Amino acid sequence: MAKVYEALQRAEEERKRKMGGDPASAAVEWDTTPQSAPSHKHGGRLRSLIRRRETVAVADETANEVNKRRIVVLQPESYVAEQFRTLRGRIDSLATQRPIKTIAMTSANAREGKSTAAINLAAVTSMSVGRKVLLMDCDMRKPKISSSLGLDPKTGIAEVLLNRASFDEAVIKVEGLSLDALVVRSRPSNPSELLASSEMRDLIEDVSRRYDQVILDTPACLGLPDSKTVSEICDGIVMVVRADATPREDVQAALDILDRRRVLGLLLNGAEVNRRQYGYY
Ligand SMILES: Nc1ncnc2c1ncn2[C@@H]1O[C@H](COP(=O)(O)OP(=O)(O)OP(=O)(O)O)[C@@H](O)[C@H]1O
Ligand SMILES: [Mg+2]
Repeated sequence: MAKVYEALQRAEEERKRKMGGDPASAAVEWDTTPQSAPSHKHGGRLRSLIRRRETVAVADETANEVNKRRIVVLQPESYVAEQFRTLRGRIDSLATQRPIKTIAMTSANAREGKSTAAINLAAVTSMSVGRKVLLMDCDMRKPKISSSLGLDPKTGIAEVLLNRASFDEAVIKVEGLSLDALVVRSRPSNPSELLASSEMRDLIEDVSRRYDQVILDTPACLGLPDSKTVSEICDGIVMVVRADATPREDVQAALDILDRRRVLGLLLNGAEVNRRQYGYY
């Protein structure tokens, strides 16, 4: 754990140095613009975005385009993609010791990069030949996967858990990748109850049989039971730590809440250590 704190320290120092020098480049590293665009606005644009790569000047992009640029699927040759391939490799080596089919992505607090990391990890995993991958949005309070990937679901995870739709009706193929997604269509009034239900357990069992890897995006784990509930029925947990923001005590408190035996590692998001945006510990 000392390594995490050292990296947090370095990232904090780097951030302070940058904020004093080049505010524009610091803003590119961490965009705080709120998510706003509804999913239907982006339907069908994924393929053209894949072709677009990183050629557009950041200054000319909308906030949402900047967010999309961060997703590996749009820039598979990028440095961020390389970081996620490294994370993937480390999880694979742990998986030689015990089965790791289902991985919950969480963090201590909101907006630390969970959803972006879940999409990146799922995208990188789906690029390995012959692997069937499912990305599940288990954040029914602030769902993000659908809008980030430009999906237009007719039904979603809440409907499946409420037995109003089957998994086959709800699952969506992500265009341009061998990746399936189960996303949020309607937000239920009782997300915690749904995630703790026997239907959720059955769903996890079912998707574990159907897929080689299932990545689950969850809400922040401090203050809400959802993330703990989901992580308890998963084989592994990756905890995202936002390099310039997550207080150390919050990292510790989150680790105390989660079952440590399931924690595969911490993903340090936004660290500018040796030009890295992500580090893995
Ligand atoms: N490494 C990064 N560098 C810069 N910006 C990032 C990075 N990772 C995530 N972001 C941006 O930070 C914002 C929050 O990211 P994201 O939605 O992935 O976080 P989250 O933890 O899932 O949030 P929530 O708690 O609301 O679900 C988004 O605008 C995203 O594009
Ligand atoms: Mg999220």
